[in-house]
Amino acid sequence: MGAINCIGILTSGGDAPGMNAAIRAVTRAAIFNGFEVKGIYRGYRGLITGEIKPFKTENVSNIIQQGGTILKTARCQEFQTAEGRRQAYETLQREGIDALVVIGGDGSLTGARIFAQEYDYPIIGLPGTIDNDLYGTDLTIGYDTALNTIMEAVDKIRDTASSHERLFFIEVMGRDAGFLALNGALATGCEAAIIPEISTEIDQLKELVENGFRKSKNSSIVLVAESPHTGGAMQLAERVKNEYPQYDVRVTILGHIQRGGSPSAQDRILASRLGAAAIDALLDGQRNVMVGIRNDEIVYVPFSRAIKFDKPINRELLNTLRRLSI
Ligand code: F6P
Repeated sequence: MGAINCIGILTSGGDAPGMNAAIRAVTRAAIFNGFEVKGIYRGYRGLITGEIKPFKTENVSNIIQQGGTILKTARCQEFQTAEGRRQAYETLQREGIDALVVIGGDGSLTGARIFAQEYDYPIIGLPGTIDNDLYGTDLTIGYDTALNTIMEAVDKIRDTASSHERLFFIEVMGRDAGFLALNGALATGCEAAIIPEISTEIDQLKELVENGFRKSKNSSIVLVAESPHTGGAMQLAERVKNEYPQYDVRVTILGHIQRGGSPSAQDRILASRLGAAAIDALLDGQRNVMVGIRNDEIVYVPFSRAIKFDKPINRELLNTLRRLSI
């Protein structure tokens, strides 16, 4: 592997608040250490089509507070093909880009891993997803902001739920992970969280109703993680309407509001630390690792581990939620 002079940076998959702060940190830390930087637009698609622009420090001014990603993002099918990756490699050679920093979630890091192996190419990954579902890091960039967005939305819904004495199922994102639902429920004093991680163990809805979840309350809110395993909020609401018709049920699907907004202080700080650490990783000779954070320390997690293992939920949180929702 030759010397690294120029570093390319891209964001891929679902956007997440704090991606801009990460782009800024990678760019500035790279320039500080004497590297050239190039911004690659629209994720892996931009690698294939050559949408690339040199980045100076001023390209990343005034973006730390902005949601979304100035580099744009995409879910690129072509990069999943050998031909797409070949074109991407040709672009990198033509542009003189010697290493990549990829900011994204599970799918994006899976693509990075395949490409890095196929072309023996140095890539550093940064965990950028609201889902918080990457193994080996306590937090992902965007998760805290999304959690705060959920909190604000649920607080508002609680006003109307309590005025009308209704049962609300509120569906949150997370793909196949229940971190947003579980911690969102704790943060808003919800009656329960229905999450994919325990969906095969128990019938969470049945348990909820049979435990008399409205014992001392005139309204209830249940957070539901989107996932085929939970069935989603709509399906659960239908079940309640059929099996427990005494409840006045409503459904809210929070949707993409969870992906937007100015990043929280925690996400800005996390993105800044991880972005700078990505450059340290390259300087250390690290290759094909995701930079993460564990117990407030920077860690390097091989791609194979970050994407292969399921990040476990903390079951203590479930117990706490159960105990506090009586
Ligand atoms: O991975 C982030 C995420 O927001 C998931 O929580 C959600 O399932 C998915 O992306 C939605 O993706 P899209 O915006 O492509 O519909």
